[in-house]
Amino acid sequence: MRKYKIASIPADGIGPEVVNATIDVLKSMQQILKTFEMEFTELDWGTERYKKTGEYMPKDGLDILRKFDAGLFGAVGAPDVPDHISLWNLLLAIRGPMQLYANVRPVKSLPNVPSPLRGVKEGDIDWVLVRENSEGEYCGQGGRTHRGQPWEAATELSIFTRVGIERIMRFAFDVARSRPRKLLTVVTKSNAMRNGMVLWDEVAAEVARDYPDVTCDKMLVDAMTVRMVVNPKSLDTIVGTNLHMDIMSDLAAALGGSIGIAASSNLDPTRKNPSLFEPVHGSAFDITGKGIANPVATLWCASEMLNWLGEKEAAQTLLRAVEETCSKGICTPDLGGKSSTKQVAGAVASHIKDLTGAA
Ligand code: NAD
Ligand code: IPM
Ligand code: MN
Repeated sequence: MRKYKIASIPADGIGPEVVNATIDVLKSMQQILKTFEMEFTELDWGTERYKKTGEYMPKDGLDILRKFDAGLFGAVGAPDVPDHISLWNLLLAIRGPMQLYANVRPVKSLPNVPSPLRGVKEGDIDWVLVRENSEGEYCGQGGRTHRGQPWEAATELSIFTRVGIERIMRFAFDVARSRPRKLLTVVTKSNAMRNGMVLWDEVAAEVARDYPDVTCDKMLVDAMTVRMVVNPKSLDTIVGTNLHMDIMSDLAAALGGSIGIAASSNLDPTRKNPSLFEPVHGSAFDITGKGIANPVATLWCASEMLNWLGEKEAAQTLLRAVEETCSKGICTPDLGGKSSTKQVAGAVASHIKDLTGAA
């Protein structure tokens, strides 16, 4: 039996609701399939811990994480702590420093989950967004001078490196190559941003030469938002910078039906560090504690995590069970349903049983 040590970091807001519902499904799944075993260790990292100790995570947090095979993360952010404090002390303190440089955000239309776009049918949206996850606009560099003065100034640097661009580009071309359409769209803003974005275009063209079987096209990010809305079927794999893909992945999720369905994998493709799986959405203060958070995004993360760990069959079964659940109309209010988080998770677990023929 293959065994995995999984760190769970539910953190803030609806994070614990969706992560715990997902862990329940994974636990029943391992009992049904009996092909793998997962040992979950919950880490209390998040805003409550910060309020008690002054730290979102311990100083040796990254070393603690390195003892696990993977991590399942909820969301961080609280109404009474500035977002740049909470995020830079937890999530962004992990992604960059752990070199989880490839962020994969798949969005595809699920059965019975209508897109808000007119005329879009199931299967029309099937995208994988690949986000550079370690540098660029999120390098955290910049500063402020003359605070409070009328001439106060602030800088927010974007640092792009050839190494950083090339590795995410190769990763994205590999993703595109693994998919039936073999189509990659490279997103930049190299008309207005004349340094880093031009380097992105140059590196993309260089890497493209090693992938003659992949059709590659280039888009400016503003025009890309239009194309996602008016011609979603023309897109497949998409690669872009940290900030551009942050924004585009929320748009993609909404076009796919809800922010509550979108999964995100923070991967270290070298596998030196454990990868971290988290929903695209945040802590959603407005629905916290109501029991109605959509667990689909986190369940989808669990499927991506199983896949990354090599449990391909289990990964597929979990995603199929999520699809079955949606097709039966068992869904949370963001998808127009009446079910609770726990009811959706319970239905997914029972579909896993059905799909595997377990008693
Ligand atoms: P959000 O994603 O938390 O919420 C936006 C809207 O989507 C809300 O109306 C919310 O109710 C809804 N929503 C989100 N997830 C849902 C789900 N699973 N089911 C049903 N509805 C869902 O974005 P926000 O309001 O901009 O951010 C709230 C906080 O979360 C902020 O502190 C922000 O910094 C943080 N944040 C954290 C992460 C993360 O930890 N990965 C991601 C995004 C935002
Ligand atoms: C996401 C989130 C984060 C990001 C925030 C909370 C720092 O929006 O994972 O999409 O911008 O990467
Ligand atoms: Mn985001």
